[in-house]
Amino acid sequence: MIKKAIFPVGGLGTRFLPATKAMPKEMLPVVDKPLIQYAVEEAAAAGIEEFIFVTGRNKTAIEDHFDHSFELEAALKAKGKSDALSLVKAMMRGPGAVQYVRQQQAAGLGHAVWCARHLVGDDPVAVLLADDLILGQSCVREMIEAYDGGNMVAVMDVPRDQTGAYGIITPGGDDGHVVDVRGLVEKPRPDKAPSTIGVVGRYIITPEVFTTLDSQERGAGGEIQLTDALAKQIGSTPFKGLRFSGERFDCGSKIGFLQANIAFGLADGALESDLRDWITKRLP
Ligand code: G1P
Repeated sequence: MIKKAIFPVGGLGTRFLPATKAMPKEMLPVVDKPLIQYAVEEAAAAGIEEFIFVTGRNKTAIEDHFDHSFELEAALKAKGKSDALSLVKAMMRGPGAVQYVRQQQAAGLGHAVWCARHLVGDDPVAVLLADDLILGQSCVREMIEAYDGGNMVAVMDVPRDQTGAYGIITPGGDDGHVVDVRGLVEKPRPDKAPSTIGVVGRYIITPEVFTTLDSQERGAGGEIQLTDALAKQIGSTPFKGLRFSGERFDCGSKIGFLQANIAFGLADGALESDLRDWITKRLP
């Protein structure tokens, strides 16, 4: 039933300047793959067939990345580099499977998701934030497997002093895997946070969320927040949080991005041994 996913990729990526001056932050590579490709592959592993990118200015590198590069493919073929050729062909999603819509203004995550409303039909849709990189099982797949209607977010425990960086839920029933969401607030101060269970950038939302977003006023940071639209539906729509099995890296921060590169490097059979040796020698 969930065959479409929205990827908001309109952000400016100011925390990674100067790297992101002319390049979208979603194209920053972890080991050898851009963040956005990890998110697309996670969605594809969950059975997603339509990929909707909400983009902005200076994001054409993302469109090029998911399109054929005839010169590259011809050059790889001529040189007999069949492994590299298979790699670039395998990541293609097929004609028409990827759609782009421009956000036009950076007015927040809720606004970005709302910009995709005409491309979403009557079924629930997944939303993935490429900044949140997950090592391990496809988080969206785990969510779809546990999904039984309504809205759903991926959740994890966060340190209390970091609640101001997350949507934070008020938990109800909790079986250690699926948590009932009784309340949701965007980026509360630690002393105001209803719990330390934070939302990670993976959502399944019903089409009604788009109707709520039609008239959603600005919230935290002066932005139109997806969190606020989801919170408004509590009571009328079931809302669950899923504790996923993978390890999440916050690639919107430099430290999270560096940690992701090391963790994914150590998880790569071809790099693991050399990287481990180097780290061991480097650190006293
Ligand atoms: C967004 C959401 C927030 C969520 C976070 C996860 O915030 O608004 O609720 O917890 O992603 O990464 P952002 O990090 O884009 O400011």
